[in-house]
Amino acid sequence: MRGAAAQLAAGTLLALLSAVALPAELGDIPFTRAAGSLGGEYPAAIFPHWVHRMQFACYVCHEDIFQMKAGANTITMDAIQQGKFCGACHNGKIAFSVVFETCQRCHRQ
Ligand code: HEC
Ligand code: HEC
Ligand code: HEC
Repeated sequence: MRGAAAQLAAGTLLALLSAVALPAELGDIPFTRAAGSLGGEYPAAIFPHWVHRMQFACYVCHEDIFQMKAGANTITMDAIQQGKFCGACHNGKIAFSVVFETCQRCHRQ
């Protein structure tokens, strides 16, 4: 019986999570402009919102680094290399840096 109760609780939690926690702001946000460059073969950059939000309060990013609206931020690799947008952290200090070994951590299918 206890197992069933635990299962029920887990089910309820899952239902709650999918009802509450799956809006766009908690999922992966794809940046697709990059996909159009380099002959259309470069994969979009994926921003896993959830992974970040577990480690940082919202205000760390919103609105100083990113406007809180999908597509509202024009991000380029130049800007990232200059320490803006993702580059505010992805600089080898707070998070992995942008070097050829790490391109695919952000740009993936
Ligand atoms: C920390 C994550 C991250 C890493 C690491 C990263 N990129 Fe990007 N890249 C982005 C984001 C975000 C964009 C903006 C894409 C968009 O708006 O569609 C972007 C854009 C681009 C673009 C589009 C044109 C431009 O310059 O903005 C190209 C090409 C690109 N990246 C190549 C690379 C290469 C090559 C590497 C490895 C040397 C790399 N990226 C590493 C996140 C990353
Ligand atoms: C590490 C940085 C970071 C943190 C922390 C963060 N966000 Fe975001 N958020 C982003 C980025 C990047 C985007 C995408 C912006 C874009 O597409 O130009 C975004 C987009 C959003 C959007 C727009 C989604 C959409 O579909 O339009 C909302 C809403 C949002 N965030 C809410 C939050 C809330 C609430 C928190 C805290 C619980 C939070 N964010 C924490 C970086 C962050
Ligand atoms: C406020 C700081 C901060 C900002 C801004 C930020 N990141 Fe991150 N990111 C982190 C940290 C910390 C980690 C986890 C540590 C690590 O992997 O180096 C991480 C991890 C990641 C990962 C790996 C997640 C996984 O699945 O393990 C990806 C992909 C990523 N970031 C992409 C991005 C992109 C794309 C942007 C810009 C749109 C961005 N990040 C902006 C701090 C940040």
